[in-house]
Amino acid sequence: MKIIITKDYQELSEKAAEIIIDLVKNNPSCTLGLATGSSPIGLYKNLIKAYEDGVISFKDVKSYNLDEYCELPKQHRESYYSFMHANLFDHIDIKEENTHLPSSEGSDLQANCKAYNKMLNSTVVDLQLLGIGANGHIGFNEPGTPFKNETSVIKLTDKTREDNKRFFDGDINQVPKYAITMGIKNILNAKSILLVANGKNKAEAIAKLVSGEVTEDLPASALNLHDNVTIIVDEEAASLIEK
Ligand code: F6R
Repeated sequence: MKIIITKDYQELSEKAAEIIIDLVKNNPSCTLGLATGSSPIGLYKNLIKAYEDGVISFKDVKSYNLDEYCELPKQHRESYYSFMHANLFDHIDIKEENTHLPSSEGSDLQANCKAYNKMLNSTVVDLQLLGIGANGHIGFNEPGTPFKNETSVIKLTDKTREDNKRFFDGDINQVPKYAITMGIKNILNAKSILLVANGKNKAEAIAKLVSGEVTEDLPASALNLHDNVTIIVDEEAASLIEK
């Protein structure tokens, strides 16, 4: 696992974007696994800038997102579909048909999981981007999730709903209780993994992750089983790493 510590969020976002920009330059038809949440927003801004400056094009890039809330219509402002459009897709030349998110619409969520998983298993993700929850979740794989799990519906923990209420007018009652997420197994299938984390509230999870112990109590620790992982963290998120 390669660990890069940056002085702040801006540098983190630039360094993480550089990795994706290089990948898209070298392989213009690459497949990206994408994440939502606050962590990758700066990185997405840098990708948009690289596109606007003519450094890269996304016209042949394909993307698969990690997760989507249940209980929210696709067009809800906090659905991950809306997030990806607002923060990346609407500002670059990626084709709508090349972007994929799990769907939580309709009455048969198990069928939706199956369909998404089938797509994932018939593609090779060149780079999977991840954030990390304060409790160590990746995607929405909460502590205790078996590493062998593939795409499934999961119940969000109170901790995650509490952490995410900032996107829902600070009201936990508005935060969905369930989500569809790629499983750890899907995530580990990617050729390379890039995890970004900033801020003090990620410090404990990052310290546990880089300690090397592999345990289902810390879903991100599964990344220790992959041989091409880069984590980029700012000084605050790195502050509890044992020297
Ligand atoms: C988002 C996702 C989550 C977030 C994590 C951190 O698609 O899968 O694992 O990466 O909850 O969220 P932020 O970046 O908002 O702290």
